[in-house]
Amino acid sequence: MKSFKRHLTALAVSAALMPTAAVQAGEVEVLHWWTAGGEARAAAALKKMMEEQGHTWKDFAVAGGGGEAAMTVLKTRAVSGNPPAAAQIKGLDIREWAELGFLTSLDSVADAENWDQLIPPMISDVMKYEGEYVAVPVNVHRVNWLWVNPEVMKDVGVEVPTTLDEFFDVADKLKAEGYIPLAHGGQPWQDATVFDAVALAELGPDDYRKAFVDHDMDVINSAKMEDVFAQFAKVMSYVDDDAAGRDWNTATGMVIRGEAAMQIMGDWAKGEFTAAGLTPGEDYVCAPAPGTTGQFTFNVDSFAMFTLSEEEDIKAQKDLARTILEPEFQTLFNQNKGSIPVRTDMDMSDFDTCAQASMNTFKSSADDGGLVPSFSHGLATTSYIQGQIFDVVTNFVNSNNPDPAKTTDQLAAAIQSAM
Ligand code: GAL
Repeated sequence: MKSFKRHLTALAVSAALMPTAAVQAGEVEVLHWWTAGGEARAAAALKKMMEEQGHTWKDFAVAGGGGEAAMTVLKTRAVSGNPPAAAQIKGLDIREWAELGFLTSLDSVADAENWDQLIPPMISDVMKYEGEYVAVPVNVHRVNWLWVNPEVMKDVGVEVPTTLDEFFDVADKLKAEGYIPLAHGGQPWQDATVFDAVALAELGPDDYRKAFVDHDMDVINSAKMEDVFAQFAKVMSYVDDDAAGRDWNTATGMVIRGEAAMQIMGDWAKGEFTAAGLTPGEDYVCAPAPGTTGQFTFNVDSFAMFTLSEEEDIKAQKDLARTILEPEFQTLFNQNKGSIPVRTDMDMSDFDTCAQASMNTFKSSADDGGLVPSFSHGLATTSYIQGQIFDVVTNFVNSNNPDPAKTTDQLAAAIQSAM
């Protein structure tokens, strides 16, 4: 009935307004978790571009940073036979959804628009199942960033730290002056995001890859990993006592207001600074997370496309896929989101200095081996293994007596159990 009515409406509209009789307008229901300030502005850009093409945007936003809640809701909807047209699904999970038979091929759009030429193969491979595109990448986020309030640093007379030792030194001085050194929210994915940055700093990119991509037990269950946990515990000791359950954007707000000096977070945090009208280099500073200069933990947002039945909705879905990789959208969306375009041929002159630095490091790290997929944001491993690591990391953070050696054993056992 619904589709009959919609069909009639579409026919009436096309008869009245359009010279061609083609049925064009459809509906796209899009699942995402972009509800914070900068995120919402970025999502609004996509909605607007779809509406300009005559389609109806049905927003399926499930709040919750990192997307865990959104994925749970998506599974329920898919199992009940009613998935949305598009859903933010990342990394190896794309293949899993495709394997279960939920996703549709986008190759007609990909071929016409030359996606293989536009997207680095390292990313397009993740978007494909059995050689066909089933998802479209939106952006590249860098996870290993440090966000800094320069006024606070000036007040205390300290510089932005570039190593973990410098970070500890600076954090002690900030604490002595009554500032919260590190803004943080006590949620598993945020704990894992900081752990991700500390692991890269301590292990370096090769061992990071061995641990979180290859799950090589020689690295996972090693003295090096104990050092990672020890350093991580030290970093976390500079978080205030009220962090439990705090959202990541609330933590960013603490840096913006100068209550806290720094935050270790991916560059969706920049979306918050941008939405507040702030300028990088003046009002805030973006720097590599301590100990990770020149290295890049990447996180690619992407929309996987579900199999639909209505012709006009399929048309809308394809238009969505095409729009996402158009230069106009890539610029507008990423300026708001804090990420960089997934197309490497884009002119970056309209982007701020953090985005330009990100693109430069993305390219240089791809050449020198410093580019690694972020485990905490679903690019390195399956969501099962990721979930196991989150549990171990969060229990460690919340323990009264954190024990790096014991936790390293637990990490090894947890990863092994999910492999
Ligand atoms: C990441 C996602 C980003 C951002 C962030 C916080 O996993 O890739 O786009 O939304 O979570 O919600």
